[in-house]
Amino acid sequence: MLIRNETAGDIPAISRLVTEAMLLLPQATGTEARIVERLRADGALSLSLVAEETGQVIGHLAASAARIGNQDGWALIGPLAVLPAWHRQGIGSALMAEALRRLRTTSRGAALVGDPAYYGRFGFRSFPGLFVPGCPPDVVQALPFDDSTPHGELIHHPAFGLDPQA
Ligand SMILES: CC(C)(COP(=O)(O)OP(=O)(O)OC[C@H]1O[C@@H](n2cnc3c(N)ncnc32)[C@H](O)[C@@H]1OP(=O)(O)O)[C@@H](O)C(=O)NCCC(=O)NCCS
Repeated sequence: MLIRNETAGDIPAISRLVTEAMLLLPQATGTEARIVERLRADGALSLSLVAEETGQVIGHLAASAARIGNQDGWALIGPLAVLPAWHRQGIGSALMAEALRRLRTTSRGAALVGDPAYYGRFGFRSFPGLFVPGCPPDVVQALPFDDSTPHGELIHHPAFGLDPQA
């Protein structure tokens, strides 16, 4: 399995896999791929990593610039998606490890909104006062790379607020 940057030829496969993987979530809207497409169109994808196995794109991780409170320099990780047939084989973890390795050189820390039971294994945790309006506080998590303390609203790219009907 190879982790590498996306190429133009990967784009349709990335959209398909993000949609297919996210359908497993009860809160899926079927429009999650559009988040990645909009980030890409806006030049806002600071990372777009694919996991490739025998020529097939089986996993994807996106990252984009974010702010926490009045602090720039955070990286928002998401969506992270692995094709269901490839789950529990370490693909998500490998994508995350490579993303964190790269983001450490460019960001003060990483943040995300997701299941703490999964992301805790990578060192993500909630912080008092770190929030996204409308989200339970425990799903809003950060992993500082330096002595930054994430405090305030996690402000991410407008692509994440895409109207599901749009
Ligand atoms: C979450 C996801 C990316 C993990 O990918 P993966 O390649 O299966 O992950 P890994 O193989 O590295 O890790 C699998 C481990 O995480 C656990 N895990 C997966 N999702 C979990 C969750 N929501 N909560 C707790 N544990 C979870 C698995 O049980 C497994 O545990 P084990 O190692 O003890 O057996 C994948 O399940 C997926 O695409 N899910 C649908 C989309 C999604 O939920 N994306 C994240 C939100 S943006």
